[in-house]
Amino acid sequence: MEPNLTQIVIIGASGDLTARKLIPGLLGNDIAGAFDGPVQVVGVSRTAMSTEEWRGELEEWIDEDALEGWASFKEGVHYHVADALEEEGVERLKERLDALCEEEGFGPRETGRLFYLALKPSLFAPAVKILSEQGMLACLPDPCAGWRRLVVEKPFGVDLESAEALNRSLLEYVREEQIYRIDHYLGKETVQNIIALRFQNAIFEPLWNNKHIESVEITVAETVGVEGGRGAYYDESGALRDMVQNHVLQVLALVAMEPPNSMRAVDVRGEKVKVFRALGLMTDEEVERDVVRARYVETGDHVGYLEEEGVSSDSHTETYVAIRAKIHNWRWSGVPFLLRTGKALERRYTEVVLRFRTPPLDLLNGPPVGGNCSLRPNALRIQIQPEESVRLGLLVKEPGAGMVMRPTTLKFDYDDLEAGDTAPAYQRLLLDAVEGNATLFIRGDEVEEAWRFVDAIHDGWERNGAPLAEYDIGTMGPDEADGLFRGCEGVWGDGVSDV
Ligand SMILES: NC(=O)c1ccc[n+]([C@@H]2O[C@H](COP(=O)([O-])OP(=O)(O)OC[C@H]3O[C@@H](n4cnc5c(N)ncnc54)[C@H](OP(=O)(O)O)[C@@H]3O)[C@@H](O)[C@H]2O)c1
Repeated sequence: MEPNLTQIVIIGASGDLTARKLIPGLLGNDIAGAFDGPVQVVGVSRTAMSTEEWRGELEEWIDEDALEGWASFKEGVHYHVADALEEEGVERLKERLDALCEEEGFGPRETGRLFYLALKPSLFAPAVKILSEQGMLACLPDPCAGWRRLVVEKPFGVDLESAEALNRSLLEYVREEQIYRIDHYLGKETVQNIIALRFQNAIFEPLWNNKHIESVEITVAETVGVEGGRGAYYDESGALRDMVQNHVLQVLALVAMEPPNSMRAVDVRGEKVKVFRALGLMTDEEVERDVVRARYVETGDHVGYLEEEGVSSDSHTETYVAIRAKIHNWRWSGVPFLLRTGKALERRYTEVVLRFRTPPLDLLNGPPVGGNCSLRPNALRIQIQPEESVRLGLLVKEPGAGMVMRPTTLKFDYDDLEAGDTAPAYQRLLLDAVEGNATLFIRGDEVEEAWRFVDAIHDGWERNGAPLAEYDIGTMGPDEADGLFRGCEGVWGDGVSDV
């Protein structure tokens, strides 16, 4: 049987995300021969332009080595002027989509449609309402070959209440199975490699618990500040809501979850939700003791956060947050999860570090780590960006007389694989959405649980009048965050050293 047609309808076609990520991602899939059947892309936004003009704009963002593929792919790329909030415009869009699929020899019911909402978040619900009222999100009988799915961009809400309201609004018009909430971090190879490393190797899983792991660190560090017009948006959000609620907690969930029954969405997402529930809500005392918030200040020639364009002069928004979180379950009880993220930091990197406990007896008088603390030789580092690698720190014997120890590392670098470049995150996730694989997308209850954790911290700050520490641009954040490592737990990694 011939595969059916897929129409990918990008609402927000003239925007930044479409040009930078979505079209290159779709093209990448086409060049890789990843689509199982013909694909049409229909861009929708209010800006008046022709299909030819849109193709011309998009072409500027295509890498030179993809231009040959683009020459044929663009024949299936169309532009449609419409206001997604106006009934009449959406009715015309429906006619256009039906006409385009018929040109390919398919009826609308044989055509799968993916509606990608590349719109600002306040438009998600109103746009879905109109699409639904025009009968564009239903397929009868259900399930039918002409599936209908929605990809919803981030941020999904700004707190628990707004996320619940958005979920309720969407669910008035579509079923949960039709909604693909995207967090592009889950499209990164090394993030998915956390699952492969844990569950396809027999050696790690027996150690992956509180008996053998002393602490887990997750760092998502950025060098950029909020320059370039991002100040106003960021000032409403801050590091906790902008990064922890999604990227940091998604990585945490993959590190901490129980082995799922299968890689199907229902099983993986079920396990992730359990982790979020086990995170528990921090009390005000815990927030005061276990969370550090800070903002960057003027350093050398660089202006501080308060002087950035769009930032309110009496802002209390944090550009850095570090959290000593706990997971209250059998596997992780007693193991601190040290999470941090910030802007204008020294190095851009994302890394997970699992530090193992000390050997039961120090037979060989190994070097002490952290002052008088005894030996902690083993750490597993999963580097997610910019390097993509896995490193395991070991102690070995220094060659020569005596038993002198030396730290060394077992390394795996993605660059060493001869599989060519890894696919960009959006490319992978777009393909999954077209194929109906929701494993790497966020379920409605998952996003709500993540907000519940974040809201407890935010509310604690508001009630406590939490202090806002300061750090210089180009450092790794405020000294106060060092205090989140306690006793002999060590120190934050630096993103460079192996042990
Ligand atoms: N850019 C990124 O790298 C990035 C990263 C992560 C998440 N996101 C999320 O992705 C979404 C889009 O971001 P963006 O940066 O692409 O925003 P953007 O550049 O502001 O684009 C917004 C798009 O929405 C269209 N639009 C607005 N109102 C419309 C309406 N009533 N009917 C039809 N189209 C309408 C605009 O086109 P017209 O004005 O021509 O109608 C424009 O194409 C946001 O939710 C954002 O948070 C973006």
